[in-house]
Amino acid sequence: MSRQTENHLLFEVATEVANRVGGIYSVLKSKAPVTVAEYRERYTLIGPLNHRSASVEVEELPVQNEALKATLDSMQSRGIRYLYGRWLIEGAPRVILFDIGSAVPYLNEWKTDLWGLAGIPSPEGDIETNDAVMLGYLTAWFLGELCCHETQKAIVLHAHEWLAGVAIPLCRQRKIDCTTIFTTHATLLGRYLCAGSVDFYNNLDKFDVDYEAGKRGIYHRYCIERAAAHSADVFTTVSHITAYESEHLLKRKPDGVLPNGLNVVKFQAVHEFQNLHAEKKEKINEFVRGHFYGQLNFKLENTLYFFIAGRYEYRNKGVDFFIEALARLNHKLKSVNSDMNVVAFIIMPAATKSYTVDTLRGQAVIKQLESTIKDVQGLMGKRLFEFCQKPNNTQNSAQIELPSLDDLLRPADRVNLKRRMFALKRDSLPPIVTHNMVDDANDPILNQIRSCQLFNTSQDKVKIIFHPEFLNSSNPVLPLDYDEFVRGCHLGVFPSYYEPWGYTPAECTVMGIPSITTNLSGFGCYMEDLIENSEDYGIYIVDRRMKGVDESIDQLCQQMFDFTQKSRRQRINQRNRVERLSDLLDWKRMGLEYVKARALSLRRAYPDQFKQPGNPFDSAGVKISRPLSVPGSPRDHYVNGAMTPGDLGTLQESNDTDYLNWTLNNSGYEEEDVTLRGVS
Ligand code: UDP
Ligand code: G6P
Ligand code: GLC
Repeated sequence: MSRQTENHLLFEVATEVANRVGGIYSVLKSKAPVTVAEYRERYTLIGPLNHRSASVEVEELPVQNEALKATLDSMQSRGIRYLYGRWLIEGAPRVILFDIGSAVPYLNEWKTDLWGLAGIPSPEGDIETNDAVMLGYLTAWFLGELCCHETQKAIVLHAHEWLAGVAIPLCRQRKIDCTTIFTTHATLLGRYLCAGSVDFYNNLDKFDVDYEAGKRGIYHRYCIERAAAHSADVFTTVSHITAYESEHLLKRKPDGVLPNGLNVVKFQAVHEFQNLHAEKKEKINEFVRGHFYGQLNFKLENTLYFFIAGRYEYRNKGVDFFIEALARLNHKLKSVNSDMNVVAFIIMPAATKSYTVDTLRGQAVIKQLESTIKDVQGLMGKRLFEFCQKPNNTQNSAQIELPSLDDLLRPADRVNLKRRMFALKRDSLPPIVTHNMVDDANDPILNQIRSCQLFNTSQDKVKIIFHPEFLNSSNPVLPLDYDEFVRGCHLGVFPSYYEPWGYTPAECTVMGIPSITTNLSGFGCYMEDLIENSEDYGIYIVDRRMKGVDESIDQLCQQMFDFTQKSRRQRINQRNRVERLSDLLDWKRMGLEYVKARALSLRRAYPDQFKQPGNPFDSAGVKISRPLSVPGSPRDHYVNGAMTPGDLGTLQESNDTDYLNWTLNNSGYEEEDVTLRGVS
């Protein structure tokens, strides 16, 4: 049956809808404004219901659309619970969050069905796979019924990552009248193989994939991922490097690359983001004063804040490289007698019990000292004021008396101050880790810090603080949201070995903070392709392809060292240059690849419609945008607008759409409108 493609409905399914785990959350959230602008109420996200995050991120709404209501009512009558509402983010997209627990009675039946239908096993006890099966069956159930209630409009299902991929083979097997896109943000095997000690990139074409998956106990998960990749109408990934990996490990060459963008919010004046840096840096200074209490023998004026952040994947995220390079940097700074210091933060969630007493105490004693000083300051001010007004101090104009320190600082104040200063005494070194770890002795990060002997001694020029929990503003010791923390730092360091895209350096870029990435990360390759001398623009790229491990670590160390040698003025200039690159990463441009992927999937599902003149996806109809950016120094082909970010042959070949003349405004996008829409 043929459906109207021009006003098609779009459903995006992922486990990170209104539920932050890693970068996929960032994709969905930051992309929402442009997707809502294009689709309005025709766009809905589907995901599993996580009560804890949904309670703060989603506002429940009544279901008004008739077809949707009929579908959800029918599922509810068979025991399925869900939350329908608006995700409280910019763009306010609608979400359906299925309560996976309510589908448990169907689980065994569905697992048997999956085996019968696609030969995919799902062993007992793998909770993640069970959840993926339930989310997939719920999504397919939902779409199957929706197609019966909504018979006119075409439906696009876009699934992200294997955890949301089960629906795709089901749609195909059940011949549900919708078209599907599967985007993988990594491959399971890639992540697993790289986390071990395998020479991954040189052997990509040689792995016996079934054997490797079986050996790691993930064969069933791998089957789901591979089935989703093969049965989708359009298969995509987030970078060329992962496209290459997918071709070898999943055995289907992606139809295109959909690089990740960000929702870039520009300040009216450039200095505003610089002021923000200074403001947030002061907050980090406060934390550092507390952390190093009693041993703050370095000047914060001459201290730079470096950091690495993300999910705890020791080797994949390059924490091993970071720590080793920091040890070398420590040595180098000492040997040149540098007056600069580095405090390096590692923000990676691990299993912990609580903050350590020492960490909490550090913040407390510094706050008490601050507050006592404020009190004493107040009293001294009052005494000074009174002293200066006393007639016998002012009458003799030839010899006006000034107060002595004893007149202003009384014995009681001295006692108070001394007590606070005594509290700053400590025998131990400032701690490395802020929390009590569940498995301190076997933690790979701590063990490497131990073996490199980076112990925060007073001679160390490089200090380390491991904060094994993501940041947020209600944090008792470092009360900053992650993005505020990034703004206050000087340099993000992300020397990943396995990184299909890597949001963390991209986020640094749009916040005007320089960062180090590698030529094995999707983001690093993307920037390397676009910018000549990316270091001048504050995008440092470590070569982890052609260099040996030792040489790459040296390169990383040198990049960090060079950064410490910059003057404040040079750092300010560099931040300005980095920030100017943010247009390159704006969804208003990057989103175009998503538009193309959807157009291609509709074309593949309903080819007849695309032969009719005047179809909106032909050049005579809706026109799709020319890239908006005014890039820093991108290479020529890019400036000329000939290509869009993810161009891969097949997406281009199959589409005749005139992307270059389409603008978001044509589709009704008005920025303010989107921000406010639905939130009233
Ligand atoms: N992040 C966060 N809080 C933190 C540290 C990191 O929310 O304290 C986020 C960060 O903003 C980024 C995401 O975690 O969007 C990590 O995404 P990335 O693509 O770098 O890696 P992934 O975890 O998806 O492999
Ligand atoms: C921003 C502020 C300046 C401040 C500077 C500190 O640019 O606008 O007032 O001096 O940050 O930079 P630094 O790299 O030393 O943190
Ligand atoms: C994955 C990748 C990461 C990417 C993110 C969003 O989790 O590990 O590199 O940035 O997905 O695509």
